[in-house]
Amino acid sequence: MNVTHLECALCGLRHEANVLQNLCITCGKPLLVRYDLDKAAETLTRGSMATRESSLWRYREVLPVVDEANIVSLGEGWTPLFKTDRLAATLAVDLDLYIKDEGQNPTQSFKARGMTAAISMAKELGVKKLAVPSAGNAAGAMAAYAAMAGMEANIFMPADTPRANIVECEQTGANVTLVDGLITDCGAIVAKRKEAEGWFDVSTLKEPYRVEGKKTMGYELAEQFAWTLPDLIMYPTGGGTGLIGMWKAFDEMQQIGWIGSKRPRMVSVQSETCARSCEHSTPANVSQTNSKMLRPSPPAFVFQRRSAISSSSTPSEHRVEPLFLLPTPSLWQP
Ligand SMILES: Cc1ncc(COP(=O)(O)O)c(C=O)c1O
Ligand SMILES: [Zn+2]
Repeated sequence: MNVTHLECALCGLRHEANVLQNLCITCGKPLLVRYDLDKAAETLTRGSMATRESSLWRYREVLPVVDEANIVSLGEGWTPLFKTDRLAATLAVDLDLYIKDEGQNPTQSFKARGMTAAISMAKELGVKKLAVPSAGNAAGAMAAYAAMAGMEANIFMPADTPRANIVECEQTGANVTLVDGLITDCGAIVAKRKEAEGWFDVSTLKEPYRVEGKKTMGYELAEQFAWTLPDLIMYPTGGGTGLIGMWKAFDEMQQIGWIGSKRPRMVSVQSETCARSCEHSTPANVSQTNSKMLRPSPPAFVFQRRSAISSSSTPSEHRVEPLFLLPTPSLWQP
């Protein structure tokens, strides 16, 4: 309702918000949604939050969708934070450690955040058929939200995707194709077929709205920590949408007046075997990672993650810890 336009993340070119868009029409980079934040701030006040709904749509003023009737929601977001003292005690430094339990989202992952925004906007802009390449969780979320919206869902996943993800897509009525290859191969199939099939491509960072849903993790953290942000956020990174989204949320919240200029240090946690978020490299052999969900996206999108990471750390901290290992104490020290 307060959206002014879409803006290319690289060249800054302005794009219209009320028509379907994928990437920048001149440079092919992702588009970000821009809002009239002064107008948003008139009603999106700290004081107003107490009585709002327990979903990410509580931040309605800084989310897209003009007509509320187009919102496709399964109650996503506003997930709890758990203080994990026993885990913290196993570390060599004294710290308050929290886990934000994104597994409590519909379809059990924070992919639901991105999909509620993307599919609501697809509905508003008249889309009937969607397509997505996915490592599993995005597919499950897309299938559920497409079913809720009454849209056709076409999903392409690597053949070794966990069975649970495949079954949830099939059970919600999606057309599922298993591909003998990586998520990048799945993305290539979507890109090749989408025009002839009339599919709208909701690949990570190839449409403007999944970032908007995921940015609400940043808004929630500020609200849950009483309008402060943690010193450090460790984020399990795949395509990097959540990382980019949280960084965007911090900037928006500063303009709205919710927080100051201090930013958390962002630690992007990736599988050892995939291309690092902070480097312009081609994905290496990614078939060995423990988590099937954290496999890399095409390096074309790396520049944005890099700007979030490099604004929050020095080059020597552009390090990526092996998946699920906790960071070394030096990372936690100021
Ligand atoms: C459980 C889980 N965590 C993290 C990620 C990474 O998400 P993002 O694309 O925001 O980096 C994914 C998927 O890629 C996931 O399924
Ligand atoms: Zn551009």
